[in-house]
Amino acid sequence: RKIAVIMAGGKGTRFWPRSRAVRPKQFLAMVGERTLLNATVDRLLPSFKAEDIYIVTTEALAADTRRMLPELPAANVLVEPEGRNTAPCLALALALIEQRTPEGVMVVLSADSWIGDNDKFLADIQVAVDHAWRKRDLVTFGIRPTYPETGYGYIETEGQGPVLGAQAFREKPNYETAVAYLESGRHFWNAGMFVWTLQDLRDELLRHCPEVLAPLDAWIADGARPDGLAQAYGRLPKLSIDYALMEKSERVAVVPASFRWSDVGSWPAVVEFHEADASGNMVQGDAILIESSNCAVFGGKRLVAGSGLENLIIVDEPDALLICRRDRAQDVKTIVERLAADG
Ligand code: GDD
Ligand code: MG
Repeated sequence: RKIAVIMAGGKGTRFWPRSRAVRPKQFLAMVGERTLLNATVDRLLPSFKAEDIYIVTTEALAADTRRMLPELPAANVLVEPEGRNTAPCLALALALIEQRTPEGVMVVLSADSWIGDNDKFLADIQVAVDHAWRKRDLVTFGIRPTYPETGYGYIETEGQGPVLGAQAFREKPNYETAVAYLESGRHFWNAGMFVWTLQDLRDELLRHCPEVLAPLDAWIADGARPDGLAQAYGRLPKLSIDYALMEKSERVAVVPASFRWSDVGSWPAVVEFHEADASGNMVQGDAILIESSNCAVFGGKRLVAGSGLENLIIVDEPDALLICRRDRAQDVKTIVERLAADG
């Protein structure tokens, strides 16, 4: 049995002002017409039954998530009392899914990435599912790195063929290390998708990070009372699955992805998906740009007009306007932190 688990509780602070706490990145149509969350589910439906597709999200986003996905049973939206990063998120998914389906392969996906070539994606998933079932490895998908990104995990591979062995998994290395990985030719980016059997996820979590599972197992053993979950969940360490498990496990395998992938992680990454005009400008919504070049405008309800602008990203929302240099788009995170600190 093949089960998909989509992690969809992230905050997406890098897309302010379009993304907000109540309207995170996966609820937005960053590329194309469908939201990233809907696109992720659409992509799976040809090869997964709706009743085998689960979403894990936080209490605050659960109602909107169910409304956006009428094609899935409401009970398949699993709810974390609060966001504590992806290791607790997947431990909870495991504990709940085991109650309904004692055996099977779990395919973990992020709700916030873009994937080209759906047929190739589903074919690669099947390769990973077969490998996880027969060889009992924790299977990841490797993307050939094109620049020294420090926001991703890197997997050092060995061997040849459709499934490679992994020598080491390193989450978010520093810049110098990322440069060395890029040059080695043996390192792949981790696409943030994982395939493993329910049993292997349980075994490996118990071996490498038991504290992320123990409070949940105790809660289940105690009858899984809904009012007891928040307390159990609050005891789990705030850790990503990459640090908690993937860096530590010695049973990691890699399927080199044959599909195109982007984590659509920032405004400049979104701009890349859209056709620019002869001056390098890209406009969504209503805008007039005079003698301007390499600007991107994500308009809202108003007309945006500019003159003599260069290398800017402009995002207009009814209650906030972002204007930033294209090479400073990562500062959006700092803006959001400042806003949160100021209350
Ligand atoms: N339900 C839930 N709860 N989902 C969460 C939580 C949580 O507490 N935290 C994050 N997520 C979701 C996000 O919405 C996203 O879809 C996914 O989990 C990954 O979380 P990110 O916070 O975006 O992780 P990352 O981008 O820093 O790193 C991961 O992805 C990279 C590729 O995009 C890692 O797996 C890296 O190794 C990988 O390279
Ligand atoms: Mg991400």
